Amino acid sequence: MIRGKFITLEGVDGAGKSTHIRFIKDYFESRSISYILTREPGGTDVGENIREILLRDEMGPITESLLMFAARNEHIASLIRPNLEKGIAVISDRFTDASLAYQHGGKGVPKELINHLKGMVQAELEPDLTILFDLPVEVSLERLNNTRVLDRFEMQGYDFHQRVRDTYLQLAMENKSRFYIIDSTKNITDIQNEIITIMDKALS
Ligand code: TMP
Repeated sequence: MIRGKFITLEGVDGAGKSTHIRFIKDYFESRSISYILTREPGGTDVGENIREILLRDEMGPITESLLMFAARNEHIASLIRPNLEKGIAVISDRFTDASLAYQHGGKGVPKELINHLKGMVQAELEPDLTILFDLPVEVSLERLNNTRVLDRFEMQGYDFHQRVRDTYLQLAMENKSRFYIIDSTKNITDIQNEIITIMDKALS
């Protein structure tokens, strides 16, 4: 049995991830490729309960990191690995890169701590492809302010989001073989064509 592809989607808040995820879903459906779409924090009953706490309650950055990884541990063990082993593609709306970008980059949690937790819950597991939806912070904050009620992370200020974006771009530089950056200021048709090209390549 060939292991399914593990694809993660990342980006600053407001980069249009949700719209592009609907398109990615259509891509898999129209080609009859078996897949599951999941998200972090969340993806399991335990993870979704942890998500509610994370998005709502104030807490220190280390507590936040530990909860992210507690949810991730459950997610990997009960959903991600079993599906990949069955040959099913797993598409996750965020994964560990988000902990590096938000908790380390945004909130200053030592990288060593995040990488230690990563080693504990992931072992050898890494995404085959990570699509980073990138957007200048000015644009992302403007989009966020015009849309909906913001969660605890989205309410953070300019500097926080700038650090998150910079960390994501740094991660993309350090992991060129799996990262693909999409410029989210481009028009939707160009972005969708780019997604098709990336997915065709990743799944070939
Ligand atoms: P979402 O809005 O993309 O569903 O993600 C929820 C928020 O959680 C988002 O602002 C990013 C944040 N987050 C982290 O801070 N660390 C993590 O490890 C993950 C997965 C998400």
